[in-house]
Amino acid sequence: MHLDSVESAGGRLGAVLSTPRSGFVRLSPGGPWLATTPELVRQVLATPSDFDFPGDVSRSGDLSGSVGDTRSGHSVFAPVAPAQVAIGTEVFARQWRLALDEHDRAAPGRPYDAMELLRRPVARSTTAAVLPSVDESQRDRIGDLALAWIDALGPVIAARRPPRRWSRTRRTEEAARTALEVALDALPGRVQPAGELAALLAAGIQVPIAAGAFLIAWLAGADVPDADPTHVVWETLRLTPPTWITARVATGEVDVDGTSLPAGSLVLVSPLLLGRLDELVPGGDLAAFRPDRWHEGDRRPGAWLPFGAGPHACPGRNLGMAQLTHLAAWGQLLDISLSERATIDQSRGIAPLPCRFSVATRREVPS
Ligand code: HEM
Repeated sequence: MHLDSVESAGGRLGAVLSTPRSGFVRLSPGGPWLATTPELVRQVLATPSDFDFPGDVSRSGDLSGSVGDTRSGHSVFAPVAPAQVAIGTEVFARQWRLALDEHDRAAPGRPYDAMELLRRPVARSTTAAVLPSVDESQRDRIGDLALAWIDALGPVIAARRPPRRWSRTRRTEEAARTALEVALDALPGRVQPAGELAALLAAGIQVPIAAGAFLIAWLAGADVPDADPTHVVWETLRLTPPTWITARVATGEVDVDGTSLPAGSLVLVSPLLLGRLDELVPGGDLAAFRPDRWHEGDRRPGAWLPFGAGPHACPGRNLGMAQLTHLAAWGQLLDISLSERATIDQSRGIAPLPCRFSVATRREVPS
């Protein structure tokens, strides 16, 4: 059993991957533009005066070509500080062990479901890092509310057309968001607005869950016990960055590199596309999962921007890396196999679905 090939994926992902890498490319007449070179992508992400966020953040991965308004004034998040990363990492390690033990007690011998199993460890880890001074039981409750909001947001993001304001999908999402914001509002000494904290939690939980599941799926097809766990993480984020595409809207007419983009143009950038460029990735055979490619060579992992770039680059990058590095170090010591074929779900970023796996001992696992 294996993870489906990204290179032969259909849908939006396939369309983006098969685009010629020739600068700004229009994906369909009247449709969005795709920036296909590292220089253009950096320019789009690092120049918010020319390229702003689309109005509806919850659907910014939408490739429909809709011309949206922008949301200038979107606040910039401070990076999660090293002390907070340390707290989140410790919580992740503890909760991951607990999740495995609980599964083994409740359903011994049954496959694990990576997308399910990662939920609580990631939610609790990210919540602990973001709210380090809140007591543990309250934090865990907030982590559960954030998961509930993420679940309710799924159908909003996956819908082909934005669901109407009063549709059941929107109402469910709004109720889940309100429940989370009310709990955050009630925290003593809170300095960040509840809405901002909620966004930070949702982004910092949903994405690492998908990344962690991909990491497990890649390890299942590989034999890399001695690879540097950080290289395992980079290779996962190269081949299957969960935020594989993101969008900006041209604030006015922008002239870049000989192409004139009209005001309101939707411009897409894709870390997944950049991660398949020879100029950014050493070692050749770019569709293969080969963590050792980062062992030598002078190219910097991350140049394909799996955490974005510019003022809206990921503030939780170090925490995400720490969670995934712990997971890699755990998984590399085991013999992981997928219990069934994992497909690449494109309904919200990308995620492996289903991602059921079993493990056998490869060598002694440190306690
Ligand atoms: C493997 C883990 C992660 C990956 C791959 C990842 C990836 C990304 C990417 C690509 C962006 C930029 C999106 C864009 O430019 O439109 C982003 C933004 C963001 N990420 Fe992460 N992220 C991860 C973990 C986290 C964590 C742990 C947190 C919170 C603690 C977090 C919070 C955020 C927030 C709040 C934003 C929006 C920033 C803004 O709009 O200014 N992320 N992330």
